[in-house]
Amino acid sequence: MSNVLVTGGAGYIGSHACKALAAAGYTPVTYDNLSTGWADAVKYGPFEQGDLNDRGRLNDVFSHYLPDAVMHFAALSLVGESMQDPGKYWHNNVAGSLKLIEAAVDHGCMNFVFSSTCATYGEHDNVLLDETCPQMPINAYGASKRAIEDILENFQDSHGLRHVIFRYFNVAGADTDGEVGEFHQPETHLIPLMLDAIDGKRPALTIFGTDYPTPDGTCVRDYVHVMDLVDAHILGLKWLEDDKGSRVFNLGTGHGFSVREVIEQSRTVTNRDVPFKEGPRRPGDCAKLVSGSDRAYHELGWSPKRSTLEVMIADAWRWHQNGRYDR
Ligand code: UFG
Repeated sequence: MSNVLVTGGAGYIGSHACKALAAAGYTPVTYDNLSTGWADAVKYGPFEQGDLNDRGRLNDVFSHYLPDAVMHFAALSLVGESMQDPGKYWHNNVAGSLKLIEAAVDHGCMNFVFSSTCATYGEHDNVLLDETCPQMPINAYGASKRAIEDILENFQDSHGLRHVIFRYFNVAGADTDGEVGEFHQPETHLIPLMLDAIDGKRPALTIFGTDYPTPDGTCVRDYVHVMDLVDAHILGLKWLEDDKGSRVFNLGTGHGFSVREVIEQSRTVTNRDVPFKEGPRRPGDCAKLVSGSDRAYHELGWSPKRSTLEVMIADAWRWHQNGRYDR
């Protein structure tokens, strides 16, 4: 059984990926500094606590487990925070990823799956964003992820590091077995915040901006179910194992929903009122991010099964009512 080093395996997406890896016959080895993740979420393989910027610790973990591949989820990923403290994003995401990539190459681990983001595209008027769209990020988070894509490209050319880059759109939902789910402290994402507001655990949700050039004035996003997203990662790993070369894939559905539409759907799914108020724009937010995902469908054979807004909110709601972690 082959080992896969999963950075950020204690986080939201990483923990779902570990579950999918174990189900596919791999041993996921979580490497996570627990800055935003949860030891409780590491359930499907060994846990090694460590930081991306700790090269000595990375060397020990690579030497001990001899992984065949890396899945690199660990990152700071908040658009708003990245605008206030960009240095944090360059230190953690870019410098940390560089250390990880160098460690992988030095230990002969030449298959690398990387979590990038649609935030690398920036604003493009009214187009579906496919992988050929120019990358012009408007926030430091997107810029940090684009820089890591560049590093991977360089290491492919110089060292033959094979990589699959996934540019995620907005990830939502939770494991249908309720074993893992989304739990951020602090929480900043739309759907979990909205579920908290519905439950009375927080005050009303604030809609960030109602004057965007979108049909109802609120931001439009393309939501994808976390279980579908991690399925694509297993396909990405097989792609590398089959030596099909380095490739970039968007992961989204091609359907955009406004913040108001998400609120409306949540009202329907939960059968509860959604308390909300309107507020100013959040710096760094693009008006519209919707994926052109043909490449993942056609080349990888990816077929999302749970990525309707209704199912994603229903799965998130189920987890929200029962799930949480304690470190
Ligand atoms: N929003 C609100 N109120 C809130 C929170 C969010 O109106 O309290 C809005 C945002 O302005 C945005 C939408 O809801 O328009 C989604 O916001 P999220 O914070 O849930 O997600 P982001 O789009 O900012 O970011 C997420 C991930 C990033 C990823 C990005 C791609 O956190 O890692 O999706 O769009 F890059």
